Amino acid sequence: MNNKILITGGAGFIGSHVVRLFVKKYPEYQIFNLDALTYAGNLENIKDIEKANNYTFVKGDIKNIEFINNLFQKHRFEAVIHLAAESHVDRSITHPNDFIETNVLGTANLLNAFRGIWQDNYNDKLFYHVSTDEVYGSLGKTGLFTETTSYDPQSPYAASKASSDHLVRSYGNTYGLPYVISNCSNNYGANQFPEKLIPLFIHNIKNNKALPVYGDGNYTRDWLYVIDHAIAIDEIFHKGINTETYNIGGFNEWTNLNLIHLLCDLMDDRLDREKGTSAKLITFVKDRAGHDRRYAIDANKLNKELGWKPTVTFEEGLAKTLDWYLENESWLNSVTSGAYQAYYEEMYG
Ligand code: NAD
Ligand code: DAU
Repeated sequence: MNNKILITGGAGFIGSHVVRLFVKKYPEYQIFNLDALTYAGNLENIKDIEKANNYTFVKGDIKNIEFINNLFQKHRFEAVIHLAAESHVDRSITHPNDFIETNVLGTANLLNAFRGIWQDNYNDKLFYHVSTDEVYGSLGKTGLFTETTSYDPQSPYAASKASSDHLVRSYGNTYGLPYVISNCSNNYGANQFPEKLIPLFIHNIKNNKALPVYGDGNYTRDWLYVIDHAIAIDEIFHKGINTETYNIGGFNEWTNLNLIHLLCDLMDDRLDREKGTSAKLITFVKDRAGHDRRYAIDANKLNKELGWKPTVTFEEGLAKTLDWYLENESWLNSVTSGAYQAYYEEMYG
C-alpha cells in the first residue's frame, strides 16, 4: 500500500475535502498537502485537520521545477493525487497562459519528479490525475459522456486539462508510469470559491445583487456533491485499475435557469423573504465565449466496477451547501474582500 501520499491543491475546494477524508480515514498514511495558496487556496478550508499527526502542509508551486524535484527527492512520495489547477473557465478566457503554465507544465513537472525518484521502477506506486468532463466538449440534447468519448475541449481551461490528461497517459505508455485518471462533472458544496455559479449566486442573493445569467440560461450541467467526489477519488485510488479512466457524475442534470430558480426559492425561504423576491435579481448578461451547451456523465463504469454511487441527493446536498454558506459568513466575507472585488469588476462590470 502507498503510505506516503502527496495531494496537490488540497487548500482548494475539492482538494480540501479529499485531504480531510484521507487524513481522517487513513491514520496510517502520511498525507502531504502541496498548495501554492493562489486566490482559490485557503488554509481555513482545512483548519480542522491542520494539527493531525499524519498531515503536513507544504506551501509551493507546481510550476517551480527545482522546488518540485527537491520536494520529491526529500519525501519520496509513493503516490500522488493531483488536483492543483487553475479551475475557472471564465478566467481561462481572460488569462489563458496561467492555465497552460499550471495545468499543463505543472502536471509535467510532477510527472517528471515522480519518474525522477522511482527511475521507472514503480512497484506499488500510483499517480492519480484528477480531471474534468469538460475535456469531452459539449453534448447535444441527448447522450452522455463515457470514458471512450473523444476529446473535444472548447475553452482554454478544458484544453489545458485535456493536455494534462494526454501527458499522464503518455507517461504511462512510454515509461510505464502507473496512473489512473478520473473525469468529473460540476461539483458543488462547502468551501467553493464564489466565482463558480452556485456560491456566486448564493453570495449575490444574500447581498441583493444582480444574478448574472449567461446567454439564454438554457445550458445544462450535471451536479455532484463534493463529498461524493471525494469518496469516488478514495475508491478509485484504492481499487482503480492501472491506466484506466473513470467518469464521475451525479446523474443529476439541471439547466442553469431551473437551478437558479430553485436556489432563489430556497434562499427566499432561509432569508424569510417573500417567495419570488430573489428571482427578481435574475439578469441576463452577455454569454460566455465558446460556452458548452450541455455536460452529462455516464458514471456506470465506476458504479459497476468499483461500486460507487452518490450518497447524497441533490435536495440534501443543496440544503447542506446553502446552510454552510449562511453559517460561514466570515469565510465568505474574507474571500470576497480585496482581489475578489477587482475580479468581479473585470468580469461583470
Ligand atoms: P480550486 O480552484 O478551488 O482549487 C485549486 C487549488 O489548487 C487551490 O488551492 C490553489 O491554490 C491550488 N493551485 C493552483 N495553482 C497552483 C500551483 N501552480 N501550484 C500549487 N497549487 C496550485 O479548484 P477545484 O474546483 O477544487 O478543482 C480541483 C481539481 O478538480 C482541478 O484539477 C479541477 O480541474 C478538477 N475538477 C473540478 C471540478 C469542479 O466542479 N470544481 C469538476 C471536475 C474536476
Ligand atoms: O464540468 C466540470 C467543470 O465544472 C469543472 O472542470 C470546472 O473547474 C468548474 O468550474 C465547472 O465549470 P463550469 O463552467 O460548468 O462551472 P461554472 O460554475 O463556472 O458555470 C456553471 C454554468 O453556469 C455554466 O453554464 C456557466 C453559467 N454561469 C456561470 C457563472 C459564473 C452563469 O450563467 N453566470 C455566471 O456568473
